[in-house]
Amino acid sequence: MTRSGTTDAGPGTGPAAHPTGSGRAPHPWWTQAIGYQVYLRSFNDHDGDGIGDLPGLAARLDHIARLGADYLWITPFYPSPQADHGYDVSDYTGVDPRFGRLSDLDAVVDRAHAFGLRVVIDVVPNHTSDRHPWFQDALTGPDATYRDHYVWRDPAPGGGPPNNWVSKFGGPAWTWHAASGQYFMHTFLPQQPDLNWANPAVHRAFEDILRFWLARGVDGFRIDTAHLLTEDPLYRDNPRLHEVDAAADAEAVYASFEHRHDLDQPDVVDIYRRWREITDPAGALLLGEVGLFTAEPVGRYVADGVLDLAFYFPALKVGWDARAIREVLEEGVTHGGARLAWPLSSHDDPRATQRFGGGPGGADRALAYLALLGGLPGNTFLLQGDELGLDASQLPPERRADPVATRGGGAGRDASRTPMPWSDRPGFGFTTGEPWLPFPTDLDVEHTAARQEVVPDSALARTRRLFTVRRHLPDLLGTAPVEWLHSADDVVAYRRGRTVVAMNLAPTTRPRPGGAALVERYRSSPASPDDGNDIPADTTVLLTSP
Ligand code: GLC
Repeated sequence: MTRSGTTDAGPGTGPAAHPTGSGRAPHPWWTQAIGYQVYLRSFNDHDGDGIGDLPGLAARLDHIARLGADYLWITPFYPSPQADHGYDVSDYTGVDPRFGRLSDLDAVVDRAHAFGLRVVIDVVPNHTSDRHPWFQDALTGPDATYRDHYVWRDPAPGGGPPNNWVSKFGGPAWTWHAASGQYFMHTFLPQQPDLNWANPAVHRAFEDILRFWLARGVDGFRIDTAHLLTEDPLYRDNPRLHEVDAAADAEAVYASFEHRHDLDQPDVVDIYRRWREITDPAGALLLGEVGLFTAEPVGRYVADGVLDLAFYFPALKVGWDARAIREVLEEGVTHGGARLAWPLSSHDDPRATQRFGGGPGGADRALAYLALLGGLPGNTFLLQGDELGLDASQLPPERRADPVATRGGGAGRDASRTPMPWSDRPGFGFTTGEPWLPFPTDLDVEHTAARQEVVPDSALARTRRLFTVRRHLPDLLGTAPVEWLHSADDVVAYRRGRTVVAMNLAPTTRPRPGGAALVERYRSSPASPDDGNDIPADTTVLLTSP
């Protein structure tokens, strides 16, 4: 593999040969794959500064491989002031010294490949850090070389921001720059100025960034906020859905608008069509963070020639409610087919255990839900720690680090970002120093990976088992259509070929859909040895008919 140039988009040293030539291979490596999100800051700290890093990740790749994942997605490791924990990038082709060096990333890629794992990295194209040299140049005035890399507008007639758009992290989406007499736009923090995708130079810059990383052997990209890159060319006001009171947090204010003009614009998919011309010949994956909450528009991002896969977030917003889950999954399959990545949790949302009630019951339900998602066409996705049944406890206000909490006034996203508990050593084997976020207060040795390795019925053991069984059920790996079954209230069930997957959400047993024999049951705690033809509470069963 060539790592010296920035233009060699040739094949990496992946576990199986990459397709050659242009066009997509008939069965790309991510077909029906299992993805594992590495939230790098919290995965494993090698140098004792309390922050997870690339050498730490390299040392624990065996955990991800033994789990049965096919690939990992690593959250941003680029040089960054860390105003939004790495999603404020100041150099797209480097590694922040906090996380290691470029050679450490190479080592992660090589070692992952040796384990048979693919590596997907985060690309953050909606905005840069305000410390990025492009923005530093843009600040020098309207004639600066990189001025037009960003979205600058004059004040509204009569003064004030150019329109009523608001930042997701609180306040207006515009910050006044007195020295040059214009506002710049930022969907997130003022330290994260939005790039101007109406400028062809921005397209060229990102196309080069993709080529740079492909030449280093990465297997694909998770595209941050893939639906946000372009805006209404006329910068019209968004319609207001309802008023909010002065005390409302940033999320509530953002939700009080219909985002007609600042996201999901029709031209955004053209960007990815061009990216595919770069990634397809390398056999690399484009996985979009399409943060939309109905299936139909998400489907447009995975229609032919656009993204390979899109995350489907309705699946991780839904509560423990059979009707709601059935509806969300059915819609997803209808509009996304096998092109969706079904996330159990993410670093931006409460973990599944927490969404489903917390405690041992929450852990049971999270694993049952993972089994339900795991049988659907597409990819199944875990956030690190989901495999340990990690719960989330809210952090004391003085330890909150997420700008959604510290600036936006909400609870924030820290609770799903706490460090991995590896062992019962001090610092739970994550760090020899002070972890950047505290561990949940009720965390004990039973949650650690080391303990769950040796306990036969642990969440880790059951998650592994689920992935092994899934790999051996051809119906779930192939193209068998999903047929939704309506057996009982509180049961969500579907059939693919001869395989039936059925989840019981009721607090008591429910009958299994008839005519099929049990393969396995999934929840975190042991079910009774014999439940006859019933599905235990908070459990998913895999069944197969003759
Ligand atoms: C994405 C990331 C999130 C980040 C935001 C801004 O939604 O997942 O963590 O804050 O983009 O880059």
